Amino acid sequence: MPYENILVERDGPVAVVTLNRPKALNALNEALLGEVERAMHELEADRSVLAVVMTGSGEKAFAAGADISELARLPDAAAATTKAKSGHRVTHAIEHSRLPVIMAINGYALGGGLELAMAGDFRIASQNAKLGQPEVNLGIIAGFGGSQRLPRLVGQGMASYMLLTGEPISADEAKQCNLVEKVVEPGALLDEAKRLAKIIASKGPLAIAATKRAIHKGLQTDLHSALELEAEEFGKVAVSADAKEGTTAFLEKRQAAFKGE
Ligand code: COA
Repeated sequence: MPYENILVERDGPVAVVTLNRPKALNALNEALLGEVERAMHELEADRSVLAVVMTGSGEKAFAAGADISELARLPDAAAATTKAKSGHRVTHAIEHSRLPVIMAINGYALGGGLELAMAGDFRIASQNAKLGQPEVNLGIIAGFGGSQRLPRLVGQGMASYMLLTGEPISADEAKQCNLVEKVVEPGALLDEAKRLAKIIASKGPLAIAATKRAIHKGLQTDLHSALELEAEEFGKVAVSADAKEGTTAFLEKRQAAFKGE
């Protein structure tokens, strides 16, 4: 089935997913969220895809939040909770994918837009990006994970500052508080995101997926249990055909050719 609210393009082993409702600053309506979730599952099933870049269409926005016209029509608390959970399904699909997802923030990443970006493995932003959780301006709270992922990324104080004042921060401020990992000129954003995605795609796919799992699962538990998880992941990956190829290639002073096995 074709996508109507996103674009999915390929550049070798890298898939670029573009949120594509530029007239509404790529606001996340139900249809778009459903398509992002479906795209993540379809890309995951395609073994030739090794990394994903997610960005917004146009020059103004990654995504300016959940679609406010849909929020304004929520009939009751149950429907609102269901809405939050549909956002959680999308962020879950990203976070639990075998595929690393680099978020390329090309302008406003507000509300649900920032929450989507925070589910990625890391974020790079264009110099003109503005990041914020302005939900309180609308009399609501962050519902796609913002009240939980933001404090985990930037610490409680900065998260409270952003979630309680609703004030957006600049790309440089986001870099200072570890909300983004890199800031680049707007024209260089997509190329830089793809460059990093291709570096990741050149590594052993099993090692990349295991690293992602170890990070995300480990963050949910105490250090002792997390180290157990790491040892289990290491145990599986270190005896794979890819590990044999990687170590042999090093000793033979040649480039490794990983197969994801
Ligand atoms: N939901 C639905 N539509 C949105 C939207 C959202 N979250 N954000 C922007 N849009 C729409 C606007 O309604 C406008 O549509 P129109 O041209 O049909 O009137 C269009 O996108 C362009 O937005 P506009 O407000 O005119 O652009 P701007 O440059 O003046 O302001 C923002 C940009 C991002 C500051 C402003 O759009 C904004 O505050 N958006 C809402 C942010 C928000 O609260 N997000 C959290 C939602 S939970």
